[in-house]
Amino acid sequence: MNNNQLLELLQTMTLEEKFGQLTQITGELYVGKVDSEMVETGPEYASHVLGDGTLYTIGSVIGASSAKFTNLIQSEYLKRSRLKIPLLFMHDAIHGYKTIFPIPLGLSCTWDEEVLETVAAVTASELRATGIHVNFSPMVDLVRDPRWGRVMESFGEDHLLSGNLGRAMIKGYQKIQEGRISEAGVAACLKHFAAYGAGIGGKDYNTVDMSLREFFDFYGKPYEIALKERPKFVMSSFNTFNGTPVTASKHMMKDVLRDRYGFDELVISDWGAVAELQKHRVAENGREAAELAMNAGIDIEMVSTLYLEHFETIVAQQPALLEDINAAVMKVLQLKNELGLFENPYTNEEAEPAILMNADFLAAAEDAARRSCVLLKNDNDLLPLRGEHRHIVLVGPFAGTKELLGNWACKGSFDDVVTLADGLKQADASLAVDVYETLADCPADVLKRSDYIIAAIGEHWGLSGEGHSSVKLELEESQRQLVKAIKATGKPYACVCFSGRPLALQDIADDMPALLWCWYPGTRAGAAVASLLTGQATPSGKLTMSFPRYSAQTPIYYNEYSSGRPANASSYSSRYQDCEIGPLFPFGHGLTYAGATYSDFAISSTDITADQPVSVSYTIDNPSDYAYSEIAILYIEDAVSRSVRPMREMKAYQVVQVPARGSVRVTMSVTLEDLKYLDAELQRTVERGAFRIYVNDTAQPVFTITY
Ligand code: IFM
Repeated sequence: MNNNQLLELLQTMTLEEKFGQLTQITGELYVGKVDSEMVETGPEYASHVLGDGTLYTIGSVIGASSAKFTNLIQSEYLKRSRLKIPLLFMHDAIHGYKTIFPIPLGLSCTWDEEVLETVAAVTASELRATGIHVNFSPMVDLVRDPRWGRVMESFGEDHLLSGNLGRAMIKGYQKIQEGRISEAGVAACLKHFAAYGAGIGGKDYNTVDMSLREFFDFYGKPYEIALKERPKFVMSSFNTFNGTPVTASKHMMKDVLRDRYGFDELVISDWGAVAELQKHRVAENGREAAELAMNAGIDIEMVSTLYLEHFETIVAQQPALLEDINAAVMKVLQLKNELGLFENPYTNEEAEPAILMNADFLAAAEDAARRSCVLLKNDNDLLPLRGEHRHIVLVGPFAGTKELLGNWACKGSFDDVVTLADGLKQADASLAVDVYETLADCPADVLKRSDYIIAAIGEHWGLSGEGHSSVKLELEESQRQLVKAIKATGKPYACVCFSGRPLALQDIADDMPALLWCWYPGTRAGAAVASLLTGQATPSGKLTMSFPRYSAQTPIYYNEYSSGRPANASSYSSRYQDCEIGPLFPFGHGLTYAGATYSDFAISSTDITADQPVSVSYTIDNPSDYAYSEIAILYIEDAVSRSVRPMREMKAYQVVQVPARGSVRVTMSVTLEDLKYLDAELQRTVERGAFRIYVNDTAQPVFTITY
């Protein structure tokens, strides 16, 4: 259809039909409940007060999957809808649909936009094959508190990295060609606007209260960056922001999202969030809740149906809203048109099986999983396994499990997962691998004969994700005992840890001489991790979230502001009396087997001006046989400024391909714009003076530049 035809269609719509397009419900109302093909991602709303006529005005369905099922819902809907405007199907495939990739926090440890774009492109192909048009991803909420269960869905604590990785995913999902989402692309939904990751105490859905300076310089930045890729949707967040639920906040949705950040596509609420305005106690009843959300500019209401229940009264009282409503409906129609749904509302059921989990997709999943693992410790080069390590005891709750997908794994099936045990056996047929859940299960002679022990430990996948905030980030006692028992054998050993969040390991870290952090790696988990343990590849990921020493050391993040009493040995400094200073493993930490060195640092100029950025370059020498991706990071420290600044701010990074036994020169630039910040009056500013430059984990500056 062309735009005029869409406008004509709009003109034929009743007000109810328009609000139908702006309402999203679950699919069972059309075809009954089919648990295997439906997922509910929030509390049930008991009464959908939709009469039969209204039901067939609805614009979109959430959580339905499989080509057969989406086609069935679509055909049932179209049979009875007056205008026969096809449904949009939306889903949460946040780290893959059927081929499951590492959890987003793991993916972020690759730091590699190409990897993230590929993940999104594969996911989009699978979604489209199954009849889904919109993906509720990426999430770019900045996170500093691992107690929050949803850190697993994030890209960590740095705003620049989170924004760039989010942007790469949007690109991969939408696959824009000639200005349109391509046939194997889906509309991306950037979420959750805004600052959802800053809930007080790390509790999900909790209040957010922060200065606008903090918001615009940090929490808002990832959205600002990712929005440049023009996602088709933004999802509003559940939380309040400085006293107003975002779902009802004109300031956040209009002044910030639309006017300041320039977003002009569709905003969808989170699940039930319009109705929940009553629970926030900012709306006395459903009508007020709908009115608040409409006025804030929430275009589509997810799952609750208050727009449809109250639109007549609201529009009668506020006829000016009609203009916004027409504009929003028009965008829905345009998106359906862009996706080609008016011509063909169905997906090809025969084609689906060959697309899902095909060999290329699985290879991409294995590569991403390998790249997302972070080697946190490797005392005495305990890893990788060496020639003399032939009899391996693999022990712990994660040794033989297929539950390595991580939370929110969409249509991923445990049956398809490669276990760590199988991965090891397949990686090296000469290895004898004996697998036990506990050390007590391992017969004495097997233990005696073994020459290496691998502890497979971590936090169960069901303990992170939405609605799974925790106060305890320490390893379970039984696993701590396991590590100690392994140590007591006197055999060489390494720990392989799976989790959806950073854990607090201070009390056990000394007993873990080698520690490979694998997050939740997805379908190809065991194959990817085994390739690292056996030394077929080197770990290369770097942390994007700091690891606290103890649970109570949270929130924790690298870009803390300077204090008048910086942490040091004195009691009268900003520290905890019963905990060492700083995280156990900092942002940016990650070892390799390569032993690369950095040398020959050079700078283009030690003066920076608006017209003259500064370039820092250095050589990475790789003496090993591993070709791998090195992550180069550049931080600045503003020596003196009128507003207090973070101790370190990451301003540039690069993922550099380092050849085996070769070297590579890396160059990173800093512009004057990079040095600016929001002052107390919210003006972007940079002051004259010195800025120190650090690279990766250098304690001393490599250069000082002056503006
Ligand atoms: O997309 C999600 C969101 O992240 C949390 N609430 C439910 C939505 C839809 O499933």
